[in-house]
Amino acid sequence: MGEVIRWVGLAGGVSVSYYKLLGVDKEPFSTSPDPDFFYPTREHESALTNILIELRLRRGLSVVLGDVGTGKTSLSRKLIRCLKERGDFILHMVLDPCYDSEHLFLTSLVRNFGIHTEGHGPEDGRLHSLTVLDLKEALERFLYQKCIVEGKTVVLIIDEAQKLTEAAMEMLRVILNYETNESKLLQLILLGQLELHSKIMNLANFFDRISFKFVLNPLGYQDTRDMIHFRLKQAGYQGRSPLFLDSAIRLIHQISGGYPRKITLLCHRALKHLVMKSQGAVDQALVREIIEEDIHAGWLNPILR
Ligand SMILES: Nc1ncnc2c1ncn2[C@@H]1O[C@H](COP(=O)(O)OP(=O)(O)OP(=O)(O)O)[C@@H](O)[C@H]1O
Ligand SMILES: [Mg+2]
Repeated sequence: MGEVIRWVGLAGGVSVSYYKLLGVDKEPFSTSPDPDFFYPTREHESALTNILIELRLRRGLSVVLGDVGTGKTSLSRKLIRCLKERGDFILHMVLDPCYDSEHLFLTSLVRNFGIHTEGHGPEDGRLHSLTVLDLKEALERFLYQKCIVEGKTVVLIIDEAQKLTEAAMEMLRVILNYETNESKLLQLILLGQLELHSKIMNLANFFDRISFKFVLNPLGYQDTRDMIHFRLKQAGYQGRSPLFLDSAIRLIHQISGGYPRKITLLCHRALKHLVMKSQGAVDQALVREIIEEDIHAGWLNPILR
C-alpha cells in the first residue's frame, strides 16, 4: 500500500489505483441499489420470496414498509431482475409517485405500459385529451388482454409510496378491483417509509386489500457481517485475509444500528482510511477513528461512541 501518494495525485487514474490497492475491481460499497451487490439477508430474502409467490398467485396487493435506508429500493431492483429473467411479466416501476391529479397518474400509467387507446398511441401527446374514464377503460382492456388472453402477469411497482396522495391510493384501489373470479388483473407492489403505514390505516378499504404485508427491519450482526463480505467478493476481492476484522464489523453494526445504507457508508469510509493509512485490514480502532471524526464534527451523538 506504499503507493498512496501516487493515487492521490493522479486524477484520472485515481479509482484504478485505489481499487488495486484494496484488491478489488470496482467500488464495493457504492450506495446505489445495484442488484449485483444485493445480499439476500433474512429480511430481504423473506420479503422477496413472499412477493414472488404473491405474484405467481396473482393476489393483487403487496406492501413493504421500512425505515429510511433499510433496502426497499434495492429490494425492488432485485425483484425486477428476478421477474425479467422469468420473461412472462410486464413491469413498470414508479420511482417518485407525485402526481397532481388522478388524470396525470393514469396518463403516466397508460404511457409507460405502452397502452394504445383508440386513436391515441402511447407516445401521443393528445393522451391528455382523454377523460379519466377513457384512461381507466383503456387500462382495464389492456390488463384483460395481457392477463387473460396472453397469460402474462402485469406488475406495477411503486417506490416511495409514502408520497402517494389519498386520491392516488383510492385510484389504485379501484384498479385493484379489476379481477376475474380467480385473480387480480394488476399486481401492485408498494414500497414505502414507515409513514405509509398510517396512511394505509386511515383507508380501511385499502388496508383490507393487502394480501402480503412486510416490514423490513435493520440487520442483525450476522447479516451485517455476511453483507459486508458478500459486497467485497462481488467487487472482486479475493484476498486470503478479510479486509474487515470481526471486531470492526461489530462496531460498524453497533453504530449503524444495522441499517444497510449506514453500514455501506461506514464501510466505504473505512476503506478510504485503510488506503490512506496503508493498513492491511479495517480494525476496530480505525472504525473508532471515523466515529470520533463524526462526533467532533457534530454529525454523531457521543452517546453512540
Ligand atoms: N440486501 C442488501 N444487500 C446489499 N446492500 C444493501 C442491501 N440493502 C440495502 N443495501 C445498501 O443500502 C443502501 C440503501 O438501500 P436502499 O436505497 O435500497 O434503501 P431504501 O430503504 O430504499 O432507502 P430510502 O428509504 O431512503 O428510500 C443501498 O444503496 C445499498 O447500497
Ligand atoms: Mg428507496
